[in-house]
Amino acid sequence: MRPLRFLLNQQLRELADVDPTLTVLEWLRGPAGLTGTKEGCAEGDCGACTVVLGTPAADGNMRYRAVNSCILFVPMLDGRQLLTVEHLKSADGRLHPVQQAMVDHHGSQCGFCTPGFVMSLFALYLTESRPTRDRVNDVLSGNLCRCTGYRPIVDAAQAMYDTAWDEPVLAHAAQTAKRLLELRKDSEPLALEHKGRRYFAPMRADQLDALLAAHPKATLLAGGTDVGLWVTKLHRDLGDVIYLGNVAELHGIDDRGEELVIGAAVTHADAYDVIAREFPDFGELLRRFGSTLVRNSSTVGGNVANGSPIGDSMPALIALGARVVLRGPNGEREIPLEDLYIAYGKQSRKPSEYVVRLRIPKLAQGEQFHCYKLSKRFDQDISAVCAAFKLRAENGRVGEIRTGFGGIAAIPARARKTEAALTGQPWNEATITHAECVLGDEFTPLTDMRASRDYRRLATTRLLRKFFIETTQPDARTRVLDAEVCA
Ligand SMILES: Cc1cc2nc3c(=O)[nH]c(=O)nc-3n(C[C@H](O)[C@H](O)[C@H](O)COP(=O)(O)OP(=O)(O)OC[C@H]3O[C@@H](n4cnc5c(N)ncnc54)[C@H](O)[C@@H]3O)c2cc1C
Ligand code: FES
Ligand code: FES
Repeated sequence: MRPLRFLLNQQLRELADVDPTLTVLEWLRGPAGLTGTKEGCAEGDCGACTVVLGTPAADGNMRYRAVNSCILFVPMLDGRQLLTVEHLKSADGRLHPVQQAMVDHHGSQCGFCTPGFVMSLFALYLTESRPTRDRVNDVLSGNLCRCTGYRPIVDAAQAMYDTAWDEPVLAHAAQTAKRLLELRKDSEPLALEHKGRRYFAPMRADQLDALLAAHPKATLLAGGTDVGLWVTKLHRDLGDVIYLGNVAELHGIDDRGEELVIGAAVTHADAYDVIAREFPDFGELLRRFGSTLVRNSSTVGGNVANGSPIGDSMPALIALGARVVLRGPNGEREIPLEDLYIAYGKQSRKPSEYVVRLRIPKLAQGEQFHCYKLSKRFDQDISAVCAAFKLRAENGRVGEIRTGFGGIAAIPARARKTEAALTGQPWNEATITHAECVLGDEFTPLTDMRASRDYRRLATTRLLRKFFIETTQPDARTRVLDAEVCA
């Protein structure tokens, strides 16, 4: 047992007795007395609680990311640096360029959302230079403003680079990284106990295995973007918690030529570049996954392990033929991702097993892959329907087709009957019309607040047709997109 240690700005904080599921937001606004960070929704949706988290990187520098503090638990700060809106204050009383630009461009009215916007922009200021307006819009996808409107805020984002400013966080970054690495060196993995509830943060897979053997009922925690809401919204007692974010074997992105291998604890933000490069459509899907703030925390393995029927990455991964590597008491085993899901809330993963990594085959010559997310908003919205298709056409016929669907069954699923109806057939209008009928009968979608059963059934079949049109008329994609923009 050792205290939890992190830097609050440049000040070392040690907490010996902390509730494992106390959120960073609760801690900031309570014991820490830093009330600049606001609470809006407490579920990762509004961005009022945005803070910047710094993690020492392999290159000896710091990596800064904006995250939602309302669904981040305090022990997850161990070995990291936490920056809040209070830390933008400079010794000579000048406003930080991000704040000054918000003032100059009238980026605030009631001000409730403003600290969150400022912190998202501050993370952008630390990591990128003069981004485009589109990029700023992406970065701000998790910050909601009810009164100002976004144009002045985006204007501020573009103007914040104009002021000459020697940014202290960047000036101290190498030193900060060194300090944090010193803290980690020789130190035991974090283990806390508070009122009978324990929190463990193993650093290696063998430590994780031992902890799971000793605490088989413990809740596994990765980015916390699902688990955090179990606490803040469902008021669930998680019991003992094992944090996966420090386990070395769950990290790493490896391009092995014919496949990508991505560690379970890699965040969607970190996986984005390589996924978007290999599968541009999948990249676009990820750009619409939650928000930048969510993706900075949420992990590839967390989405797959949660296995929600409306989770976004599974349809694409299933259609691509991804395999999931699980580790348990008997070592590692590997299964096709679709075989992980048995029924709603039921997986073939044994209680003591966890997701180690995903193996995603790259597209072979001549294979085409598209995926589609239908939701009411462009970003920060869960899918009503998600669909993905991978096709290998041979001499105008379907050599092989793989599908992946979300939002239409109790689990993420392949439409196997539809795949069978298509395989070997000419890739033409008549085949698609027939396949639409098969697909329409293959699932029994739910009606819920996102969409009705009929909508889901129709949308699913129309997405298959859309895929057909886009693969047979090369310029159709651009035309469809233009039409959507015009509408
Ligand atoms: C505002 C908001 C927007 C969202 N938008 C989307 C969206 O657009 N699309 C979408 O699909 N999801 C969305 N989500 C849901 C969530 O972000 C994803 O499911 C995310 O991938 C979960 O990853 P995590 O690392 O945060 O998992 P956690 O919350 O830490 O864990 C999720 C579950 O997986 C288990 N787990 C985690 N890692 C492992 C592992 N390696 N092995 C075994 N079990 C593990 C945990 O025990 C838990 O049961 C959203 C969430 C929020 C709060
Ligand atoms: S309070 Fe709304 S995202 Fe955290
Ligand atoms: S200024 Fe009021 S919510 Fe943004």
